[in-house]
Amino acid sequence: MGQTWFKYGVCILAVLLVVSACKDSSKQKEAMPAQDQKWWKEAIVYQIYPRSFKDSDGDGVGDLQGIIQKLDYVQSLGVTAVWLNPIYTSPNADNGYDVSDYRNIMEEFGTMEDFDQMMDGMHQRGIKLVMDIVVNHSSNEHEWFKQSRSSRDNPYRDYYHWWPAEKGNPPYRYSLFDAKGDAWQYDSLTNAYYLHYFAKQQPDLNWSNPKVRQEVYDIMKFWADKGVDGFRLDAFQFAAKDTTYPKFPDGFEKDFIQYYAMQDGLHEYLKEMNQAVFSKYDVMSVSEGAGRNFEDAHELVDQDRNELNMAYAFEGVDIPKYKGYDLATMKEVFTKWDQEFAHDGWLSIFLANHDQARMVSRWGNDSEAYRDVSAKLLNTFLLSMRGTPYCYYGDELGMTNIDFDSISQYQDIAAINGYQKALDEGEDMELFMELLNFSSRDNGRTPMQWDATKNAGFSEGDPWLPVNENYMELNVEKENSNENSVLNHFRKMTILRKENPVLVYGDYQLVVPEHPTVYAYTRTLGDEKMLVLLNFSEEDTTFDLNLDGNPSTVVINNYTDLDITDKTVRLLPYQAVILKMD
Ligand code: GLC
Repeated sequence: MGQTWFKYGVCILAVLLVVSACKDSSKQKEAMPAQDQKWWKEAIVYQIYPRSFKDSDGDGVGDLQGIIQKLDYVQSLGVTAVWLNPIYTSPNADNGYDVSDYRNIMEEFGTMEDFDQMMDGMHQRGIKLVMDIVVNHSSNEHEWFKQSRSSRDNPYRDYYHWWPAEKGNPPYRYSLFDAKGDAWQYDSLTNAYYLHYFAKQQPDLNWSNPKVRQEVYDIMKFWADKGVDGFRLDAFQFAAKDTTYPKFPDGFEKDFIQYYAMQDGLHEYLKEMNQAVFSKYDVMSVSEGAGRNFEDAHELVDQDRNELNMAYAFEGVDIPKYKGYDLATMKEVFTKWDQEFAHDGWLSIFLANHDQARMVSRWGNDSEAYRDVSAKLLNTFLLSMRGTPYCYYGDELGMTNIDFDSISQYQDIAAINGYQKALDEGEDMELFMELLNFSSRDNGRTPMQWDATKNAGFSEGDPWLPVNENYMELNVEKENSNENSVLNHFRKMTILRKENPVLVYGDYQLVVPEHPTVYAYTRTLGDEKMLVLLNFSEEDTTFDLNLDGNPSTVVINNYTDLDITDKTVRLLPYQAVILKMD
């Protein structure tokens, strides 16, 4: 017909549209898909990096009382679960990922009473709590390790992996965080080496020892009995090891996942953990890493495996990190993981976390002109894909990378040791610093920007990591009062997702797959269909749609206008729109 049947010249309040779209949610639920309904599939997870969220006592470090002060804010986001990075006692070689007591709270963060108060506060607000379980390794200051290293016949010796020096040098293993890249650390006390895939302060636990496994299950039960609702298993795909230590080919460290992940025994450990812990409580479980391939991932998360509920697949965030990633690759990667898990198994969706650059700097455009729209676009993506979305604190505001130019400004052990290694190996240090500036984990860890007061309202003291200097412009207070802010767009998206099961369970189908700058897809559940249009570029673009069905109602839009006919659509720079289809 060719006539313009749909043209928005005037902004229609997104909230009203959301409400009208929501009327159909009960109809959508009746048409449930192949996937069973589960609370953890419907969850919207908000990740809090406790060190950086809110400091209540002025020591410059975020803490549990700080989180408690901000629970109403967390609730206002519409998220339904919080994943908290480790809060256990730790010497903090790797910001809590080196645990020295799994049943206590890090002093800087508070006490067990604070923890109980925080968890109760979450539960009262309908928010579940997911804890980080760091048991591929412990801290070298954990009592188990102190015992283990004290003598070769100590009962805890086999809690870790040792190589007696009289056998000669241990077979080369690569360490992700070591300044020399060597995963074996010599300990003169017993004339032996211990294994650490991460930093030397993080010795790897020996999972083939049943006593270690029982200790871990008891720890998990301790937290589940307290009432936590889930566990994120840190680096767990590396827990099983081939202790015959076969020689790996030269250069294996560039592809260490192939050699380190999913070794024999891992699935047995997970089944045992499931039996001992997960099956006894209504808790969710998610593993960091999904193995080496689809088959591994299915074996981790398919329902009949009785292992885990879901995994984070890294292929998305592993798309080369430097500026100008390729949208075609992004579409291909996210699409293939979606298709693979359409009927069995479940994954998470994320674009950032505490190990990544800031979402808008990495995947969007953090220039003044496009920061807002591109951050809204990315949140639209995260909250309209299949898989449980994990939203990182600050990304709901569009917080950006920080610009460090000297290594002395970095706090992250991976950055500091990586710098030393690059220096020793004679790398191009200018390039190294440029890459670090863009991709370092400290980018994602700067303090939450609450308001325009001192230190962005994060702390009365000196923050452990500098506050991003854009905090006067970019903060919660300012965005709260602006109906069109990134923050309020995020809130509209969580409402939309919660009220429209099609966005959780609906089939995903790529539209205009060959378009160079547009990522578009439909989500379909029974009679319900939504069309998501995302322009990942600074240029506006007009293209043909060729869809079955007509887009009828705009349910969300990061601009006031949308130009669409039954044949073509025009998207403005970083425009993100979701339409209901008839
Ligand atoms: C995981 C964590 C990371 C940590 C590492 C070692 O990758 O996400 O922050 O440094 O494990 O525990």
